[in-house]
Amino acid sequence: MKTTLTWFGYILLPVVVLGGMMIFFRDVTKRNREYPIQMGVSPAYRSQTVNESFPNGLTTQLPVAGTIARGFKPFHYDATPEEAKRAGAELTNPFNDSAENLERGKYIFTKSCAVCHGPTGAGDGPVIPKFPNPPSFKTETSRALADGELFHVITRGRNNMPAAEANVSTEDRWKLVLYIRTLQAQE
Ligand code: HEC
Repeated sequence: MKTTLTWFGYILLPVVVLGGMMIFFRDVTKRNREYPIQMGVSPAYRSQTVNESFPNGLTTQLPVAGTIARGFKPFHYDATPEEAKRAGAELTNPFNDSAENLERGKYIFTKSCAVCHGPTGAGDGPVIPKFPNPPSFKTETSRALADGELFHVITRGRNNMPAAEANVSTEDRWKLVLYIRTLQAQE
């Protein structure tokens, strides 16, 4: 019995005391001990962080000037009314109004545009009047817009109209133009 107690005193007591000290005096602002060190702390940079290895200080490097990502079709028109007119004069819709293309246009319109423009394009979507009223597609000015101008508005946005370039593909934006034309032809 006596020896057991002595062994407790010699082994368990230091473990409890030292262990307790390690826990209570641990600096929580610093990284704790880790094994194996080399794998715990990776030398790789995270993409959105500062990087002193590059002159511009960025980890994610910008594309080389004058290059185009594979499969990306650049749209060489700025977000100005003059550029919208130019797009109207220069661009034609590469798609025809086949049932399939219209079906696709309707699908995207219902999904991304009808919240504001309304199911028939009258400018009475469910977020109106909390959001400023878009014009009806059936006005004379709207009908008079060239296909390229409609494509420009959808791609670049205009005033309160958000640009759809990032979330709707080029093909789908042209199919939206087709679908808007069918909405305009109604009534
Ligand atoms: C957040 C609401 C909102 C969404 C979503 C939206 N629009 Fe618009 N849209 C507007 C507003 C507001 C205007 C009027 C802009 C202005 O005052 O110049 C407009 C204008 C337009 C016009 C020009 C109409 C004209 O007569 O000049 C077209 C075309 C158009 N939108 C198409 C679309 C399409 C296609 C989508 C879906 C990809 C879409 N919009 C999504 C709010 C929206």
